[in-house]
Amino acid sequence: MFFLVAAVATGSVLVYDAVNKTTDETVTIIVITCVIFSLALVCAVVDMIRRKYTVEQPVEKILQATKEIAQGEFSVRLTPRHTYKRYDQYDLIMEDINDMAKQLSKAEEMKTDFVSNVSHELKTPLAILQNYSHALRDKNLPEETRDRYLGEIESASKRMSTLVTNILNLNKLENQQLKPEFAPIDLKEMLINTVLAFEDVIDGKNLQPVCELDDVSVVSSYGYLELIWNNLLSNAIKFSDEGGDIIISLQEKNGYAVVSVRDFGCGMSPETGKRIFDRFYQGDTSHAQEGNGLGLAIVKRVIDLLGGEISVESELCQGSVFSVKLRVDQDL
Ligand SMILES: Nc1ncnc2c1ncn2[C@@H]1O[C@H](COP(=O)(O)OP(=O)(O)OP(=O)(O)O)[C@@H](O)[C@H]1O
Ligand SMILES: [Mg+2]
Repeated sequence: MFFLVAAVATGSVLVYDAVNKTTDETVTIIVITCVIFSLALVCAVVDMIRRKYTVEQPVEKILQATKEIAQGEFSVRLTPRHTYKRYDQYDLIMEDINDMAKQLSKAEEMKTDFVSNVSHELKTPLAILQNYSHALRDKNLPEETRDRYLGEIESASKRMSTLVTNILNLNKLENQQLKPEFAPIDLKEMLINTVLAFEDVIDGKNLQPVCELDDVSVVSSYGYLELIWNNLLSNAIKFSDEGGDIIISLQEKNGYAVVSVRDFGCGMSPETGKRIFDRFYQGDTSHAQEGNGLGLAIVKRVIDLLGGEISVESELCQGSVFSVKLRVDQDL
């Protein structure tokens, strides 16, 4: 467009100039004007083609991709037109759109997995509730069988309630709705109280808890720490054999409070060890009825929010030790 306007302007000046000139001069001026027009036309066409390939096509591709993403098609990927070192603005936008689509498809996958995991975890206790409540309609059931069925119903509903509580906790932690309330905490006292709260289950399995606790205090959130110790201790109890030992230790090392929960139960393989903090992951299928694989996902999230560390050492059939490190002088 610019070339054509410039050509028309120059042509007009030349034609104006041609008035009152000799015939030869007029012909020369007309030829020059024609050449200028032709050149302007060629430049305009070349510019149009350049714009089509360097601006319109990438913009079109970008618009098409964003439209598809907006309609929920997250598998869309754009191919930048240049090699990485020669990226222009459009290539950068394309890379950003690819990243955005990847993130969205990951979030979508997680959502689908989450829904199917929750449904799966609800199915078993629901089936138990339905079957046993149906069976209880039989008026001729012996008292002993009736009690057993009621026990099954009770534990299935407990399992469902734990699942819902854990999902809500995890969700609140993810969305930062469960705010930590920092205060000085006597860890020794807290760990003793945690063990006492599990007394019935510990006695039920005839386990021998050993507490090796130094006097250590931290500034932290009581509610958050409760989630950690409850989950670690409940795992140690669940994965211990009858009559086994459980050692809970507390020490202060290099400005950190170090809490370890050790059991001598089934332990886990290195493959299992890599996935234990994933939501709904349960490595030992023999205990799958007793939980939903959310405990350690909660523990990990809480420890990340507190800026602590957790590590695990474990060997199949030998037992496991979970160690948590928390800064003693955490700022309020
Ligand atoms: N002390 C342990 N000994 C052996 N395996 C363990 C131990 N703690 C955890 N694991 C493994 O890690 C998996 C995940 O643990 P997590 O606490 O998240 O789930 P869960 O205990 O199975 O269920 P939930 O905690 O929801 O009741 C367990 O299923 C088990 O395979
Ligand atoms: Mg657990």
